[in-house]
Amino acid sequence: MELSDWAENHARRLLSPLGRRWRHAEAVASQARDLATGLAPEDWEVLVAAAYLHDIGYAPEVAVTGFHPLDGARHLRALGHHRLAGLVAHHTGARHEARLRRLEKALAEFENEDSLVTAALTYSDLTTGPIGERMSPGERLLDVAARYGEDSPVTRGLRAGWSELMDIIGQVEALIGQAPQPADVQPR
Ligand SMILES: [Fe+2]
Repeated sequence: MELSDWAENHARRLLSPLGRRWRHAEAVASQARDLATGLAPEDWEVLVAAAYLHDIGYAPEVAVTGFHPLDGARHLRALGHHRLAGLVAHHTGARHEARLRRLEKALAEFENEDSLVTAALTYSDLTTGPIGERMSPGERLLDVAARYGEDSPVTRGLRAGWSELMDIIGQVEALIGQAPQPADVQPR
């Protein structure tokens, strides 16, 4: 079985009881599949697999600390998937939220490969809404703020990492030849 097929099945089992988390993960994976065409075959598999798995830390079976990138990464490390664990640990600027939650040391146990795969995963997550709809990163930030609240570490972490995240979005858009959207400036 290919890694991406295993990841799809594993994530579906963990996330489908949560409804929309699974719809989001499926859509992030679909977006990642489109981006992955320019990657080496091994990276393609890993990107699509990480896209399916990036939010498994929300599954009750996996959640321990309540910080989903860390919980998902620990689960994958225990299964021996070290590269996937690193990608999930560091998806979408997670270290900013980790700092707010005082979990940065725990997160730093996982390697941040900081690669094109990392960038493509972040791009796919930030352009996919909570039920799998396409949205701009700016709309996504507003949606997160509306769902979690401005004071939540989720929202504050995203805002803290926003300029870095926008650089990543810009890099991926340049690679795929897509002009930035006006809504991609940081909304207030
Ligand atoms: Fe996430």
